[in-house]
Amino acid sequence: MRRIIFATGNQDKMREIKKILAGLTIDGEEVTVCSMKEVGINPEIVEDGKTFEENAIIKAKAVAGYVPDAIVLADDSGLEVDYLNKEPGIYSARYLGEDTPYSIKNANLIERLSGIADEKRTARFVCAIAAALPGGKVITETATIEGRIGYEEKGENGFGYDPIFYVPAYGKTTAELSEEDKNEISHRGKALRAIRERLLTEI
Ligand code: IMP
Repeated sequence: MRRIIFATGNQDKMREIKKILAGLTIDGEEVTVCSMKEVGINPEIVEDGKTFEENAIIKAKAVAGYVPDAIVLADDSGLEVDYLNKEPGIYSARYLGEDTPYSIKNANLIERLSGIADEKRTARFVCAIAAALPGGKVITETATIEGRIGYEEKGENGFGYDPIFYVPAYGKTTAELSEEDKNEISHRGKALRAIRERLLTEI
């Protein structure tokens, strides 16, 4: 049995990755996906990269040091608002303070865009995923979903900046989409499916 360990403490991400990697077999061996917690690892990781990709690599390598025989996946994601020079970007989780409620972070972004027309409210969620393979090689995939910052929070699903991230093609925010619909089009869903394909060819 091969193990994939996902370097996150986030239960929502774990659920999503288990779904997307379900049924994966490599060299005829079924793959089991575990969280760091399930294998008893909880390293202190300093995310001091300058890009999403660098941070994903830092996390994957840090965990791989503890489990050299496993495939370790890690992700880093965030929101880029074009009008704000791509803020909050890699600081999305830390924007206005890690423990600040998203209702406040979202209201702040809406406020910073007040008076700005639709076509200048463009934004994207970005997700980079790194896979540290046994033997030391690291592969990465990055994906995005394009949208616009809305004028008020809408929707109850999802998390973080979802209530203000409006997807024109759906006429909804990502917080108004079902989990399944969001996974189909989201930055994280796309990046996870891309890394799944890469694992099949790289190992
Ligand atoms: P990470 O866990 O370090 O990747 O931090 C990602 C941060 O970016 C989250 O805490 C959210 O603020 C934001 N973010 C990333 N993906 C999403 C999403 O799908 N919806 C809403 N916010 C997101």
